[in-house]
Amino acid sequence: MMNNHMHRTKNECSICGKPFDGSLREHIRTQHSEQEFKQAVLKAKEEGIPDQKIGELFGITFRQLEEIITETYGMNISVLKKLKKLKYWEPKNFREETTTVWSFKQRGNWATHDGRYRGNWSPYIPRNVILKYSRPGDVVLDYFIGGGTTAVEAKLLGRRCIARDINPACVNLTLKNLKFTPPQTLFPFSIYEPDVTVGDARDLSNISDNSIDLICAHPPYAGIINYSSDVEGDLSKLSIEDFLKEMKKVAAESYRVLKPGKKCAILIGDTRKHKHVIPVGFHTINVFLEAGFKLKELVIKRQHNCKTTGFWYEKSIKYNFLLLAHEYLPIFEKTESSHPYLLKENIRDYSSVVSVLEKPRLKKINELETTTVWIFHEKEFEERLNKNVIDRYSDRNEYSTIVFTSHSENETISQNDNGKKRLSLLFIKSPFLKGEPSLKDIEYYLKEIKEIVKRNLPNINKGGFLVIQTQDTKTDGYVQPIAKKIVDTLSFDNLWLKEIVVATQEGTNSSTQHSGEFLKIVHQYLLIYEVKI
Ligand SMILES: C[S@@+](CC[C@H](N)C(=O)[O-])C[C@H]1O[C@@H](n2cnc3c(N)ncnc32)[C@H](O)[C@@H]1O
Repeated sequence: MMNNHMHRTKNECSICGKPFDGSLREHIRTQHSEQEFKQAVLKAKEEGIPDQKIGELFGITFRQLEEIITETYGMNISVLKKLKKLKYWEPKNFREETTTVWSFKQRGNWATHDGRYRGNWSPYIPRNVILKYSRPGDVVLDYFIGGGTTAVEAKLLGRRCIARDINPACVNLTLKNLKFTPPQTLFPFSIYEPDVTVGDARDLSNISDNSIDLICAHPPYAGIINYSSDVEGDLSKLSIEDFLKEMKKVAAESYRVLKPGKKCAILIGDTRKHKHVIPVGFHTINVFLEAGFKLKELVIKRQHNCKTTGFWYEKSIKYNFLLLAHEYLPIFEKTESSHPYLLKENIRDYSSVVSVLEKPRLKKINELETTTVWIFHEKEFEERLNKNVIDRYSDRNEYSTIVFTSHSENETISQNDNGKKRLSLLFIKSPFLKGEPSLKDIEYYLKEIKEIVKRNLPNINKGGFLVIQTQDTKTDGYVQPIAKKIVDTLSFDNLWLKEIVVATQEGTNSSTQHSGEFLKIVHQYLLIYEVKI
C-alpha cells in the first residue's frame, strides 16, 4: 500500500493537507484538536510506518505512542495493519525441547499467531508445555490469555481450554484469533472450541476444585509493560510488592483448581532498579512454592529482542550492567499426596580451598558479554566464564577465587592467596550438587556458602563484587533451585544483588536427545553481588 505519510511533501500536514512552517507537532498543536492529533498518529501506525518514524513525525516517545494505542483499542497492540492470511497450521521442523534452556529465534507465525498483542509469549512455549504435560481432551487453563496464544495452541492440539483475561478487549482479540477451522486431514482428533470469558485470575470461583489438567500462563509482571489504560484489577499496574501480594491469590486459586499430580507453568522475568536486578522471577517461584506446589522443572527462556545498540546498550556499558536476556519458566506440580522426601543421611563435607585462576588478558568492557545469558563453547566454557567475571568485576590485581571443594582430612586449606590484601572481587566457584543430593546435603551446602561469605565479606572493598557460580539440581524427582535458595539465604545488609547471569554451553540444547520425563539441566548461574558503598 502507498504510504501517505512517507510520500507527503515534508511540510504538509497529515490531517488537513495544508502546508505549514516549523514542526508538524507544533502545527497540529495550534491548528487541530488533541483528538485529531491522536487520529493522525493512529493512521500513521495503521499504514505501517515504523514506531521510530512516528516518534520523529509527531514528536512523541514510544511510551506515549503505546498510551494512545492502548487508550483507543483498550489494549496494547504493536501492529494495527490488517490480519495476515493464514499460511501454515503448524511450526516447521518442530522438535520438543529436551533441556532446561529454551530458545526460539523465530516468532512463530503459524495458524493465527501474529505477535501483534504487546507482550504476548512465543507460541512455542505453550506448544511445548501442552505437549509435554497434557493429553488430547485434557483441560488447559490460561487465566492471563492476552491475545489468545495458549487458546490457539490448545485448539490446534485437541485440548479443551479455559481462557480468561481481565481486559474485555483481550477476550475479543482472543475470540478473533480463534476463528479458524483446522483441516480434518491434518487434525484427525477432536477439536474443542475454547471457553473464553472476562475473568480475574485471583478469583477462579467459577472453576471447580481439582478439575484442571494443566495451567499454562504468562502474568503481566509489575508495570514493565502497561497492558490496558483503565481496566480495574489489571495486575500490570501494580508495584512489585503489590504484584507479588496479588500473585499469592493467583497461586492459591491455581492450587485449588488443579488436579493432583498435574502441572502449572508460569513464565516470569526479572526487572531492574537503580542498575541492580530485582529477582521478580525467584520471588514469584517462592509465592507458588508457599501455595503448596513443588518445583518440577526450572526452565530458562532466552529472549532475543535484546539490542546490542541504542539507548539501553549505551547505558549498560556506561553503568556496567547487563541487558536482561532471559526469563524463567518454572513448571510446578501439585503432588498426588504430600509424601515426605526420602531423607538420605550422608552429608557431604565441604570446605574452601583457594586456587589462583590464570590472570586474564585485559579487555575493554565493551568486548565482554553484554547480556544476562552467556553461551560459550564446551572447550573454553570455564576459561571464558572466568575471564568475563574477572575482567568485568575486578581490577585484576585484587581478586581472589575460592574454589569450594569436597573436604578430606589430608587436604590443606589455604584461606587467601592475597594475604590480608583487600579485594575488589571474591569469586566463589562452588561445586555442583550432582547425583541426587539429599535435602540435608543442600542445607549444609547453603550454610557453607553463607559462612564463606560472612568470613570473607569484610575483606572485599566497598563497591567491590562477590560472585557465586552455582547450578540447580534434582532431589527425588523435583528441582532444587539452588541459585534461588542462595538469593533467599544471602541477606546481608551491605550486599546488593546486581545481576543473575545464566551460563550455558553452545549447542547443548539442540544436540541433546530426549531424556524421558525430565529436562536435562544444562545451565549454571552466576549470582553477582555488589558490596554497598
Ligand atoms: C503477559 S500478558 C499475556 C499474554 C499472552 N500469553 C499472549 O500470548 O497473548 C498478561 C495478560 O494478563 C492480563 N491481566 C492482568 N491482570 C489480570 C487479572 N487480574 N486477571 C486476569 N488477567 C489479567 C492482561 O490484560 C494481559 O493480557
